[in-house]
Amino acid sequence: MNSELAKLERFLKIRPLYFDEETKEFIWLDTRLLPFEEVYRRTRDYRRVAEAIRSLEIRGAPAIGVSAAFGMALAALESKARSVEELLRELEEAKRVLASTRPTAYNLFWALDRVMGRASRDALSGDPGKVSEGVVDEAMKIYVEDVKTNVEIGRIGSKLIENGSRVLTHCNTGALATAGFGTALGIVRYAWYEGKSVEVITTETRPVLQGARLNVWELKKEGIPFKLIVDSAVAIVMKRGLVDLAIVGADRIVLTGHVANKIGTLQVALAANYAGKPFYVAAPTSTVQRSWDAESIVIEERGKDEVITVMGRAQLTLKDIEVYNPAFDVTPPELISGIVTERGIATKPYSESLPKLLS
Ligand code: MRU
Repeated sequence: MNSELAKLERFLKIRPLYFDEETKEFIWLDTRLLPFEEVYRRTRDYRRVAEAIRSLEIRGAPAIGVSAAFGMALAALESKARSVEELLRELEEAKRVLASTRPTAYNLFWALDRVMGRASRDALSGDPGKVSEGVVDEAMKIYVEDVKTNVEIGRIGSKLIENGSRVLTHCNTGALATAGFGTALGIVRYAWYEGKSVEVITTETRPVLQGARLNVWELKKEGIPFKLIVDSAVAIVMKRGLVDLAIVGADRIVLTGHVANKIGTLQVALAANYAGKPFYVAAPTSTVQRSWDAESIVIEERGKDEVITVMGRAQLTLKDIEVYNPAFDVTPPELISGIVTERGIATKPYSESLPKLLS
């Protein structure tokens, strides 16, 4: 194992994805089957990685970014290109395929640009072998950095959690949404490791049930106390004072402090603000797009099967009906108490604090 990763071993109780340096395979836990079955899949084909991202076998913005980087590594390893020009063309094609999988998670585009940037720099050597090695090395760096970043977010964010805190979260932001450890749930995990007593209130997160399936699986594994609520119970739970703070993740943040996250996040923010409870976002700086335009955030719209069935299994209602299924919403900066990153906590006004954190 990579020596930097070995140092992080104690934070990697759950390993949702990794690269086997001996077999040159990318390996991931199929999150669609959780919490009932723990099945790891493996491939040497970047197109299969793209399929895994598209079909939600792998999901969560940081996990998507890291997986796409490994997808590029697989594309470089499968290449028989004799010139750097040919190899760069093949890598551009792999980037196109991987970029077309999901539109909202910013880490996807960030990771693909970073790997391509490395390939272009190494291409100056004129040696396709060196470019290939560089792509694999960059993917590995992105992977290790993501774990380190999450642990740092956990360390910084843990200050927000007092002993005995009850933390409401929405969607899965744990190890399974990242290369390991997690963002918002990483904060809870870090506080728990520090010996604080904490209770998580997790929403189900309809329609894909990231809370009911994935948070439940992770929290049970860690032994962290939790309660599962239906999404529509958020307001009453806030109003009755059963929560001290809310922490959620992010799929894309822009410099104004607008945060795109799993559908229902805006409702959590509104309820928290109405009840006078702090509402925090936790995300790595790789989720922050250097843009001032919140309107430009693409909101993924997904198929109707997610809504009219439970995970494609039990049919919930009639098949021949119209459904609107946006996968994300955007919470405006005025509803957000702080954005926890690996570089510190940004506070209002975000249009000043975020660029400062990134500089
Ligand atoms: O559609 P998903 O499962 O990929 O949703 C993304 C998310 O996991 C969440 O929105 C999450 O809160 C942010 S990513 C840590």
